[in-house]
Amino acid sequence: MGKGLYISKSVGITLIVLAVAAVATIIALSVVFHNEKSRTVEKPQINETDQWKSYRLPGTLSPQYYNITLWPRLVPDANGMYIFTGHSGVAFTCVKETGLILIHSNKLNYTLTPEGHHAKLTGLEGAEAPAIKKTWLEVETQYLVIQLSETLQVGKIYWLYMEFQGELANDLGGFYRSEYFENGVKKVVATTQMQPTDARKAFPCFDEPAMKAVFHMTLIHPLDTVALSNGMDKGTETITLNNQQVLQTKFDPTEKMSTYLLAFVVSDFTFIRSPAGAEVLIRIWARREAIEAGQGDYALTITGNILDFFQNYYNSKYPLSKSDQIALPDFSAGAMENWGLITYRETALLYDPIMSSNGDKEWVTIVISHELAHMWFGNLVTMKWWNDLWLNEGFATYASYLGADYAQPSWNLKDLMVLKEIHKAFAADALATSHPLSSLEEDVKTPAQISALFDTITYSKGGAVLRMLSEFLSEPVFARGLSAYLKQFAYGNTVYTDLWGKLQEVVDADPEVNLPATITEIMNRWILQMGFPVVTIDTQTGSITQNHFLLDADTKPSRSSAYNYEWFVPIKWMKSGTAMGQHWLLEKTATHDPMKTNSEWVLANVNVSGFYRVNYDPQNWERLLSQLSTDHSDIPVISRAQIVDDAFNLARAKIISTTVALNTTKFLSEEKEYMPWEAAVKNLNYFFLMFDRSEVYGALQKYLRGKVQPLVEYFRNVTSDWTEIPSSHTDQYNQVNAITLGCTTEVEGLADLTKAWFRQWMENPDKNPIHSNMKTTVYCNAIAAGGAAEWEFGWKMYKNSSNAAEADKLMYGLSCTKKPWLLNRYLDYSLDPDMIRKQDATYVIVYIAGNVIGQPLAWDFIRAKWNYILNDYGGSLSFSRLILGVTKRFSTEFELEQLQQFKEENVAAGFGSAAQAVDQAIETTKANMKWVSENKQLVMQWLTENSA
Ligand SMILES: *[C@@H]1O[C@H](CO)[C@@H](O)[C@H](O)[C@H]1NC(C)=O
Ligand SMILES: *[C@@H]1O[C@H](CO)[C@@H](O)[C@H](O)[C@H]1NC(C)=O
Ligand SMILES: *[C@@H]1O[C@H](CO)[C@@H](O)[C@H](O)[C@H]1NC(C)=O
Ligand SMILES: *[C@@H]1O[C@H](CO)[C@@H](O)[C@H](O)[C@H]1NC(C)=O
Ligand SMILES: *[C@@H]1O[C@H](CO)[C@@H](O)[C@H](O)[C@H]1NC(C)=O
Ligand SMILES: [Zn+2]
Repeated sequence: MGKGLYISKSVGITLIVLAVAAVATIIALSVVFHNEKSRTVEKPQINETDQWKSYRLPGTLSPQYYNITLWPRLVPDANGMYIFTGHSGVAFTCVKETGLILIHSNKLNYTLTPEGHHAKLTGLEGAEAPAIKKTWLEVETQYLVIQLSETLQVGKIYWLYMEFQGELANDLGGFYRSEYFENGVKKVVATTQMQPTDARKAFPCFDEPAMKAVFHMTLIHPLDTVALSNGMDKGTETITLNNQQVLQTKFDPTEKMSTYLLAFVVSDFTFIRSPAGAEVLIRIWARREAIEAGQGDYALTITGNILDFFQNYYNSKYPLSKSDQIALPDFSAGAMENWGLITYRETALLYDPIMSSNGDKEWVTIVISHELAHMWFGNLVTMKWWNDLWLNEGFATYASYLGADYAQPSWNLKDLMVLKEIHKAFAADALATSHPLSSLEEDVKTPAQISALFDTITYSKGGAVLRMLSEFLSEPVFARGLSAYLKQFAYGNTVYTDLWGKLQEVVDADPEVNLPATITEIMNRWILQMGFPVVTIDTQTGSITQNHFLLDADTKPSRSSAYNYEWFVPIKWMKSGTAMGQHWLLEKTATHDPMKTNSEWVLANVNVSGFYRVNYDPQNWERLLSQLSTDHSDIPVISRAQIVDDAFNLARAKIISTTVALNTTKFLSEEKEYMPWEAAVKNLNYFFLMFDRSEVYGALQKYLRGKVQPLVEYFRNVTSDWTEIPSSHTDQYNQVNAITLGCTTEVEGLADLTKAWFRQWMENPDKNPIHSNMKTTVYCNAIAAGGAAEWEFGWKMYKNSSNAAEADKLMYGLSCTKKPWLLNRYLDYSLDPDMIRKQDATYVIVYIAGNVIGQPLAWDFIRAKWNYILNDYGGSLSFSRLILGVTKRFSTEFELEQLQQFKEENVAAGFGSAAQAVDQAIETTKANMKWVSENKQLVMQWLTENSA
């Protein structure tokens, strides 16, 4: 699945409930023999009682192919319900003798046979099917259970046929409904999201990734619509069904693949396509308005390139004749890699040159690349079970940067992966409550347990660890191993050790590669234990030591590790600008004499090629800081960003003093590059939150103004007084950083600039002069500086906008006003669905809480309305995000008391899905109080001493 949102909001809430229920009902699968009198004695009967209580299929049957016909209704029935009807058959082989058929089925109603059964069983290729004894649905484990009067014969093929109907709900899972308006007319799209366990909600199927089969799809659909599926359509004919004229579209059979990769869509969308004659037909589908406005053009341009890149990289041809990509108005994840029909949310596929920012464009590029990487890694070769999901998603995350870099070579995307994935992974994995990348198969059984794996660790840490592997093997060796792996396991399923095995073969055959241990020995430490090390280098003695890095020094890891929280660490390092190659740390502590020095600076983990943080002895910190101040360009740009990020995080963990961290920001007055600035801005954000209501704020503003002023001047110059846009992608990002931080620190002229732009727009609403890259920050700053007129104008444009990306930027900007009455009114709007869509309500409240003036208003607001919020927004709000967002500034005794009181007063009403978040907020508030008391004086003094 694509990135961004791993689980839809409504799913997230129900999962917790399911997980609790599941623990209570996990029952070990028991296979024992029993002595039934009526049967022949030589053939013992298998006791299959209770097999349907197990969440895993018994492995007795193996599907070969399915024939599926579905008919979604795009208008509600007499009861106001949207439904689909269908029938399907599955040909399966019996691989172990059994008298029981378990096939997944969820929320489907069946047409019973004259005998009162849910299904019909016949033999294929001469096999004779036993009679059905009894059938029923198991709701908890999501099975259709079919008990037979006699057993199926090993090696024989059978055909199981069913007729059923389901709801085409707007629940974003299985076969579901998405709606939008076009020219004032409501349109309905029927579409799918099967991963991980919702194919069973569309038709009965053996819904496990290793149960690969071929799918023959047929869709029945209204006359004015088009139907799409994984395979190319074989033709559409008009038929009469239930006295209605409808279209029937049949599709080419799919490759042999997993159920979770199936997709089908009925819509009245239109498309653009690659030129005739191309080897693979590429089509981009979306709402008519969007395609006609050219919003699919960018995706079409880059898809062919990226597909070519992956065919070369994997040394494996794309096996399908077409690649459809479709943008859907309602979609839970970022995108989904269905083989041949990739589905996206609109912001992940559509790009509007005027309305979209360079960040929006980058997102489209990365997501397309991520999904195309899955065509091989995931689709052609699939994990055996969900416990190895990290391999699929981690790989797609890593490879997405390679494919996107090929499409946009000037964007430095391979470097940006450090900011976008690795820093995110560090943050998640530094908590005592983190978890290992790889789970045990028996720990992942229920749909809730499976869905919970779609998290930052799986995606970002998975990507970071595979990038490290590729770095120490070198990219060509890694790619050769992948290619061999894909060749051997094509159309099959694997576990992660299969990949280690193939890579090891390539390593063994290559005399150039020297590793201190096997791939398995090295990599298992990174995937079977949670967390990552901080490596401390003492240049006085040459000693290197590793320790498990935890952000909160007072916590202990939530689980034990077979490897004692030690890793095999590849250390690429340099000494005063000279690359020194790679050294392996294989013990808790070791000595490497070349690292001993008392004059040169040592820099380790160059370009963050390994997944760990680095600390040094104070003298080496001094030497690094001094190099940054004299000529920072001697240190590679990624490492400059990493020094800042490591120092601030080591300081939070109390491993080094906050002064060292602050010292790493001094060189920023000379820095023009985006990555170091972005790392600093992210880390300083915590200082703003903790201090923006105290005297420290003035000192912080003054210090940073001195740092950012030269950057503002630089961009003013580069852009000919803000009339142009810098040509480089990362410069475009850093220009936004300059304006945002410049406004926050009151660099002269910037407030007037943003106000003037906004005023120009107000005077001519049809012509917005603000470049899309800068809209978020300009809207925010102009509305903050302005009054009611600016706010009302912004609100009007928000309500009139038909572009989701533009509306989001305005929605944020409106939260920046400094006028309490406007903020309070906006808070009221947030819970009025006619004003703010329900799905956006939490965002608005949290944005307002991000504003130092809005913070107490938002806190009062949610306390006053808690019962109402809980009852009316149950399914559509993320309560955790709400609680954590509104309390993230809390750092005083008084706020802690209020929070505790809030918890006590609402025990009866409850906190919905936010019970854990309330406790977390209390913990965080205490940690913040401690940090502020330990650091306030010191920070104040440092800022005062270091301000120009
Ligand atoms: C089959 O196994 C179940 C539980 O494992 C047991 O309760 C039941 O008595 C067994 N049935 C027969 C017929 O042996
Ligand atoms: C399934 O569909 C395919 C393609 O239409 C057809 O050739 C085959 O006979 C069908 N199988 C069964 C058992 O109906
Ligand atoms: C399935 O049957 C249940 C129980 O009769 C009913 O409530 C539900 O609406 C039915 N769903 C569909 C899609 O027909
Ligand atoms: C921070 O920098 C100042 C001035 O360069 C220096 O005197 C001080 O020792 C540094 N502090 C630390 C902890 O490195
Ligand atoms: C502005 O640009 C000019 C030439 O392009 C350069 O000489 C000057 O140093 C620049 N000024 C700043 C502040 O970057
Ligand atoms: Zn993915």
